[in-house]
This record gives sequence, structure tokens and C-alpha cells, in this order.
Amino acid sequence: MPTPDLRLDGRVVAVTGAAQGIGRATARRAAELGARVAVLDVQPGPPDLLFVECNVTDAHVIAEAFARVRRDLGPVEVLVNNAGIAPPAVPFEELSPEAWRNTLAVNLDGVFLCTQAALPQIRQAGGGAIVNVASVAGKLRSLGSTVAYSASKGGVIAFTRHLAALLAPEGIRVNCVCPGAVEGAINDRNLADPARRSATLAGVPAGRMASPEEIASVICFLASDASSYMVGAAVDVNGGLL
Ligand SMILES: NC(=O)c1ccc[n+]([C@@H]2O[C@H](COP(=O)([O-])OP(=O)(O)OC[C@H]3O[C@@H](n4cnc5c(N)ncnc54)[C@H](O)[C@@H]3O)[C@@H](O)[C@H]2O)c1
Repeated sequence: MPTPDLRLDGRVVAVTGAAQGIGRATARRAAELGARVAVLDVQPGPPDLLFVECNVTDAHVIAEAFARVRRDLGPVEVLVNNAGIAPPAVPFEELSPEAWRNTLAVNLDGVFLCTQAALPQIRQAGGGAIVNVASVAGKLRSLGSTVAYSASKGGVIAFTRHLAALLAPEGIRVNCVCPGAVEGAINDRNLADPARRSATLAGVPAGRMASPEEIASVICFLASDASSYMVGAAVDVNGGLL
């Protein structure tokens, strides 16, 4: 067997939440690796990549968005379910049912809905990969966000494992990444308090947050044939945060 390849030449890669942060870095890295990339987001992404407006909580909008990707680029072979929100932590008693539902709607329902919409195209393409962006919060707990965030990301990990077993026989690999603290808009807000930021970093043996590119690199590895025997994994990318 030839050595599996890290490249994504010619593959159609759809990345949700790719206007900024980890998703944007992933879209850029996938393009560098030769992919034809679609950015699905509620706000515009990099001007040089195909932007398809898509709210991942709305099944109708999602169906139209994936139809557009197929029309413009061809059937999706790689889906990166990255779109997510991480509202700042509040005391548990103050977490409203609406806030709970909204977090689950974007972070977990969104993964389910986009996966269902993309799957017929991945099958049509003859197989592919799905990479979900979970979090260390799904295994341990969130330091800057709510219990709803942790629950949503735990759900993404369980969804990944189960779906991976269902789809592996068809040559569709499903894995997820579990980033620790990453530089960007979420932590600029949730860890704005210097004491909270240094308490978080104190738990990170690497002594710093990740850059979005450091997460994107692992996502693209899981999307590529270089990870051809990885199925249902939840890969920690967390600087040693345990
Ligand atoms: N930043 C971190 O420390 C960290 C750590 C672990 C996991 N994550 C996860 O990584 C992913 C990306 O995080 P980030 O730090 O890049 O966040 P970010 O806020 O910088 O980017 C999130 C992107 O998702 C988009 N988005 C939000 N709601 C959407 C919706 N309903 N439909 C479509 N797009 C939507 C936003 O417009 C934005 O472009 C999220 O799933 C997040 O939970 C982040």
C-alpha cells in the first residue's frame, strides 16, 4: 500500500463557521493542500474562497447551502463541522432554558443537520471524511463558557463515535478534534479578565494558547488520507491540558 497522503488535491471541502478563527484557518489550510473549499457561515469569509451563507441551525437553509456547494464545486467529499458558539460562563442557576437551547442548537443540532445534508454528496463522491470540532470541554469541562457548552461538546464526541461506526463500512471516516484554549474572539471575550486568563493558562503545560492554525493543521490531517486508519477518534489538541 502506498504511503497515505496529507494532500487534499481536487477534493471538495465544506467548512462551517469558516468566516473567522479555527474555521477560517482550516479553510485556508485545506486550500493550500489543494482542496476546492466552500465557507459556510452566517458572515462572509475570505474573499478568495466560495462563501455560502448558512445558519447551521436551519435545516432548510442548510439544504440550499449544500445544493449550492454541489452546483458550484461538485459533491462534497470532506465536511468540517466547525461552527460553534461559546457564551461566557454564568452561575448555573442563571443559565436560561433559551441560552441552553441556543448553545445546543448551534453546537450539536448544527453538526447533526449539516452531516445529514452533506452525506448524500459524500456517498456520491465515493467516500470521504467528516471532521467535527468538539472541545476539551466535552471531556473535562469548559473554563470560560457554560455547562450547556460542555454538554454540547460531549454530545459532539458521542455523535462522532457512533456515526463513525455506522459510516466506516462505506469508506466514510468520522473523527473529531478536541481543542484546548485557542487564541481568538471567544477567548478575547470569555477570558478577558486577566486573572481568569492566567488561571486557565496555569493548567496548560505548554504555557500558552493554541493558534487557530495549530488546530486547522490537525483537522486537515483528519480530513486527508494521511489519517486513513483513524475512525471515531477524539483527538486532543490542547497543549497538555489534562
Ligand atoms: N476558541 C477556543 O478556545 C475553542 C476551544 C475548543 C473548541 N472550540 C470550537 O472551535 C470552533 C470554532 O471556534 P473559534 O474559536 O474559531 O470561534 P469563532 O467565534 O472565532 O468562530 C466561529 C464561527 O462560527 C460562525 N457561526 C456561529 N454561529 C453560526 C451559525 N449558527 N451558523 C453558521 N456559522 C455560525 C461565526 O460566524 C464564526 O465565523 C467552535 O465549534 C468552538 O466551540 C474553540
